[in-house]
Amino acid sequence: MRIGILTGGGDCPGLNAVIRAVTRKGIQEGDNILGILHGWKGMITGQHEELTLRAVSGLIHRGGTILHTSRTNPFKEEKGGEKVVGTFNRLGLDALVAIGGEDTLGVAYRLFSEYKLPVVGVPKTIDNDLSGTDVTFGFDTAVSIATEAIDRLHTTAESHDRVMVLEVMGRHAGWIAVHSGMAGGADVILIPEKPFDLDEVAESISARHARGKSFSIVVVAEGARLDTKTDEGLVKQTEALDEFGHVRLGGIGHFLAKEIEERTGFETRVTVLGHVQRGGSPTAHDRVLATLFGVRAHDLVRVGRFGMMAAMVKGRIGEVPLEEAVKELKTVDMNLYEVAAIFSG
Ligand code: F6P
Repeated sequence: MRIGILTGGGDCPGLNAVIRAVTRKGIQEGDNILGILHGWKGMITGQHEELTLRAVSGLIHRGGTILHTSRTNPFKEEKGGEKVVGTFNRLGLDALVAIGGEDTLGVAYRLFSEYKLPVVGVPKTIDNDLSGTDVTFGFDTAVSIATEAIDRLHTTAESHDRVMVLEVMGRHAGWIAVHSGMAGGADVILIPEKPFDLDEVAESISARHARGKSFSIVVVAEGARLDTKTDEGLVKQTEALDEFGHVRLGGIGHFLAKEIEERTGFETRVTVLGHVQRGGSPTAHDRVLATLFGVRAHDLVRVGRFGMMAAMVKGRIGEVPLEEAVKELKTVDMNLYEVAAIFSG
């Protein structure tokens, strides 16, 4: 078969491991693998390169994506769907493997359901907010990086008797904040799923200090919001929307640090972890997960199970319909958040 593969949306550690897995397995079984460049943009322009064994050698540990990525939404273009199908036919493809999160796989699902394009999905995102799979690759790496940051902030917070605010990624879901906050022993964890009240945050920090603690660690997801019940509570970098309708978030950490310092009187500093969470080598866990997803995606192509996504289902590698994966976001399980709260303050 002639199989195209693309990576779309924000990059994430483990993308190269999937590309390697699909290519190595495909070539072993006599397939030709074509790397489509720059995500869905490449399915409009036709930019591609042949993936040989040599092209995917030395990739397992490399972060980023050798295929490059973009946040292009083909359905924002006039006849975008038809253009993708045209490129698919021109390149002589039999199938397409799309590696991405809710946006990229949302496009994959539309192309499958509306244009009958033979597409298979692979779930990626450091945010871990995709439904249909227990976990996405990239998440473990991001949590490890954020946890290490909390560990480092702990020692300096303690030395200086300060409050340290760490802003982590997580646009709609606070998985990174909850997991790294639990692992790092954070005193306050703020997530998009649970709007927060500034007085309550300040009170919990003051109460902790009144009990004899001289420092506090606050982990806040970029998409956490004040309890205003509207988007007013979101701190944005710009008002401009990308092609999938998202604003660029970021800045909640600085806002929070200022408010905490004013309300508690404790010296407060802020660290915004940003894209450090997405860069560099994947953890061993993510390399294995990405490889298993890649192998399963190739299997799905081989048996013609299009419109499906490789997934981790109840701890086992399996597959789910793309439709199920993209219908709603997987937000933080409130039971988990309650467990994390036992250790707050
Ligand atoms: O979707 C993953 C994510 O890491 C979000 O948490 C974050 O809001 C966004 O990507 C940042 O994207 P960009 O790299 O385009 O700034």
